[in-house]
Amino acid sequence: MNGPHMIPAVGQANGQTIGDAAFRTVARHLQEQTGIVLTDVKKGLAVSRLSRRLRALQLPDFDAYCDVLSGPDGAAEMQEMVLLLTTNVTRFFREPHHYDALRTQILPGLVAKAKSGGRVRLWSAGCSSGEEAYSMAMCVLEAFPQAAPSNIRILATDIDSNMITKGQTARYQLSEDDLSEHPILLKHMVKVPGRDRYVDIAEPAKSMVRFARLNLQDPWPMQGKFDVIFCRNVVIYFSTETQQKLWPRFAKALNHGGHLMIGHSERVTGPALTPLRSVGVTHYELQAQGAMT
Ligand SMILES: C[S@@+](CC[C@H](N)C(=O)[O-])C[C@H]1O[C@@H](n2cnc3c(N)ncnc32)[C@H](O)[C@@H]1O
Repeated sequence: MNGPHMIPAVGQANGQTIGDAAFRTVARHLQEQTGIVLTDVKKGLAVSRLSRRLRALQLPDFDAYCDVLSGPDGAAEMQEMVLLLTTNVTRFFREPHHYDALRTQILPGLVAKAKSGGRVRLWSAGCSSGEEAYSMAMCVLEAFPQAAPSNIRILATDIDSNMITKGQTARYQLSEDDLSEHPILLKHMVKVPGRDRYVDIAEPAKSMVRFARLNLQDPWPMQGKFDVIFCRNVVIYFSTETQQKLWPRFAKALNHGGHLMIGHSERVTGPALTPLRSVGVTHYELQAQGAMT
C-alpha cells in the first residue's frame, strides 16, 4: 500500500526532478480524474511514485511523461497515474469509535429490520484494500450471526482497481497490534498455512462484502439507499469545493435515520449540514423528513 511516510517534500527523487509546469500538468490531470488535490508539498511524493512509471515507459523526464498524458494513450496512462498517486493507508477497525457506534447505537435497529425481512445496506466508500468493509461485516456478524442469508449486504468501492482486487482476494498480513487490539479478527479469519500472520477472511464475512470500482466523482450506479456509509480519510485529499459537492450526494444516498461516518480530520460543511445532523465525533445522521422542515 502506498503511504505518506519517508517521502522527500522536494520535487526530486531517484535522480529525477519535476519542473513546475510538468507538476502542474500532473496535478491538474489528477484533480480532474479523481478530485485529489496535489499541493506543492507533495512534489517529492509525486516524483518518487511516478519515477518508476517513467522507467517502465523508458521516458527521459516528466515533460515527456506529460506528452504521454496528453497523447493518444493519455486516458489509459491517467489510470496508471491514479493508481500510483492515491494514498491507500488503512487498517482493520481504524478509528474504533465508529465501530463502537455501529455496534451499540446502529446495529440493534438494523438487525431487527433484517430479522423482519427488511433490506439493510452498508457502504464503505473509498474502501482501499477492504479492511474497513470487513471490519463492518465482523460487527454485523457479532450482532447477528445468521446475517449472511438475510438481506444485509456491504458494498465496498474504491477508484483504485488494484485495491479492489486485493479486497476481493481477502488475504491480509496482520500486525502484532492488530492481533492484540482486536482479538475478534481471528474469529472471522483463517490462518494461511506456513505464512506467518497471513490470514484469509473466512465465510460468512467474506461473502457479505461486494467490491466494485467506483470513482466518487462519477455518477453512482447504485439503485437503493444505504443505512450506513463510511467514507473516511478519502475527502481529506479533495478541495473544499469538491467535498461540498459530495456531502449532499451522501445525504441523498442515505435512508432517513441513516448514518454517515467520515475521517477524523474531515467535517461536513455547507448546505448538507441541514439534513445531516452531527450525532457524534465525525458521525452524522440523516434527519427524518419532518425534522428538516
Ligand atoms: C487513505 S484511504 C482510506 C481507506 C479507508 N476508508 C480508511 O479510512 O482506512 C483513501 C482511499 O480513497 C480512495 N480514493 C481517492 N480518490 C477517490 C475517488 N475519487 N473515488 C473513489 N475512491 C477514491 C483511494 O484510492 C484510497 O484507497
